[in-house]
Amino acid sequence: MNDPSGYQVSATGAELYERYATQYMGQWAPDLIEVAALQSGERVLDLACGTGLLARLAAVRVGPAGQVTGLDINVGMLAVARAMPPVSGATISWVEGSAVAMDLSDASFDVIVCQQGLQFFPDRDAAVREMLRVLAPGGRVALSVWNSPNPYSIAVGDALERFVSAETADKYRAGRLRLVPDANALRSMMVAARFREVEVRPHKLTIRHQAIEEFVLGHLSGHPVAGAISSLDEEGRAAFARHVKTALMPYAEGDGVAYPDEVNIATARK
Ligand SMILES: C[S@@+](CC[C@H](N)C(=O)[O-])C[C@H]1O[C@@H](n2cnc3c(N)ncnc32)[C@H](O)[C@@H]1O
Repeated sequence: MNDPSGYQVSATGAELYERYATQYMGQWAPDLIEVAALQSGERVLDLACGTGLLARLAAVRVGPAGQVTGLDINVGMLAVARAMPPVSGATISWVEGSAVAMDLSDASFDVIVCQQGLQFFPDRDAAVREMLRVLAPGGRVALSVWNSPNPYSIAVGDALERFVSAETADKYRAGRLRLVPDANALRSMMVAARFREVEVRPHKLTIRHQAIEEFVLGHLSGHPVAGAISSLDEEGRAAFARHVKTALMPYAEGDGVAYPDEVNIATARK
């Protein structure tokens, strides 16, 4: 598909995403599902579903009478999603496609959830218009984007700059910083698309990780910068991970780390 979307990983990267990145994304997912206030029997679209973290939570919430669709542009992510054990609740359909031109019928969903996807779409305004199109009248959307770098992403960006290259650091930071619309831009985008009851609110969470050295190497192996990390030799990778651990010392908690994180969650109604 000719679509210069961000956050693209290989098939192995998708497996590593499920093993590591979801240890982070999974801490945020219940919050977005809570905000979406899913009801039994609703039809839910998990947009940019990745390996299907939110789709599975949504399936449990809407129950067997509901329907859940997970859409993502990355076939590797969808392959991992399909291979996961089914959850008790709604059946989940997995659809390959781009958020900017979805092969989904008009007015076919009651709710769209989208966790950390919007910033990677090549045309966000088009994606927001598509969200409106596929929602039934009165349908609602709940989407999250980061609103600032957190101590972990700052530490990783610094380590990439020091041990890999400024270019790789830039690529990593872009996903977390420059590409992300701020609260005002997010609100304007939703209003311009003619969503109603648009609200954008910051949400805070303390993120916890055990074994941060292992986590950071695993996380980056399933990240779009994976190639650069794998070019380091074993010693370089160990030094890289130690650098991140040292930078996170102020957030040490037991054997792991606990650091503050913040996202913006936009909610709106068709
Ligand atoms: C940071 S991941 C988030 C995945 C998932 N929502 C989660 O919470 O784990 C970003 C996802 O956006 C997807 N993506 C990027 N561009 C896309 C597009 N144009 N259409 C659909 N999905 C896209 C990527 O393939 C990736 O799975």
